[in-house]
Amino acid sequence: MKAALPSPQAGLYEFNRGRLRNPSREAGPSLDFEGAWILDRLGGMPCPSVEPGLQGLLAGLNKLILEEAEQASESSDYVAQRMTRDEFKILVQEFSVDGLTEAQVFYYILPRLSLEAQMPMLRIMIDEFGSGNLQCAHTTLYVNLLNELGMPLDLAYYCSRIESTSFEFVNLFFWLTLRADDPSYFAGAITYLESVIPSFFACYVQACERLNIASHAYYSEHRHIDVFHAVEGRRLLRAMAADQTLDANKAWKGIHLAAQITGGAFEAAVVKARQSSQLGILSRDEVLR
Ligand SMILES: [Fe+2]
Ligand SMILES: [Fe+2]
Repeated sequence: MKAALPSPQAGLYEFNRGRLRNPSREAGPSLDFEGAWILDRLGGMPCPSVEPGLQGLLAGLNKLILEEAEQASESSDYVAQRMTRDEFKILVQEFSVDGLTEAQVFYYILPRLSLEAQMPMLRIMIDEFGSGNLQCAHTTLYVNLLNELGMPLDLAYYCSRIESTSFEFVNLFFWLTLRADDPSYFAGAITYLESVIPSFFACYVQACERLNIASHAYYSEHRHIDVFHAVEGRRLLRAMAADQTLDANKAWKGIHLAAQITGGAFEAAVVKARQSSQLGILSRDEVLR
């Protein structure tokens, strides 16, 4: 049988990872695809107007977080209360490319920030990499989870299986850090994500408890540490505003890009897990594709 062609998002990810290893690598069509994808996302996204400047941005962010917290999520409830262990493995699979390379691409935002703005970002990075202790790096926490679930640790294994929406989530950060015309997009996106993860990951922690998964630290640690990272995100935005490098409009768009793409990846992963279960063929490796 003829193998399916990788999706354009998978191709873009392959290019992104390859170029980190070899910065002189030719872009080929990947960056054209990336440009069109981001333009399409920015154009089609509901992005209500907010008061101009930092205060309007922070008020808009707080309002968005509250609105999202009030919205019931059937998928989150399902993960927390009903998802089976095999379905959970598919959910873990869908975010494995991110988990296995966690925060590595964030290094590239640092030289694009002023020295003052680098400090809160650096404090976030120190936690992401376990304060220099590999055992505490967030990727190691993900590896521990994969080990307990009996899943491979090989990035290539997951690259041939995850959905386009899962690639979109990781590719977004390559664009934000390396190619967005302004680091404000990244500053908005990271502040949004660090702010919502403590509540967003509650369903994962509940699922681990219910399914007797001991390696829940990837999720429980994020519920703890991202409360502090959300504060650092606001310090980052304030430092950028203070030295006049913040474009609040672009930061607001970054917030909405992150919200839309993360939400889409999560929903698609939960749907994939549930559909695979309904097919009753979860134990067969092919359905993880
Ligand atoms: Fe993390
Ligand atoms: Fe974080």
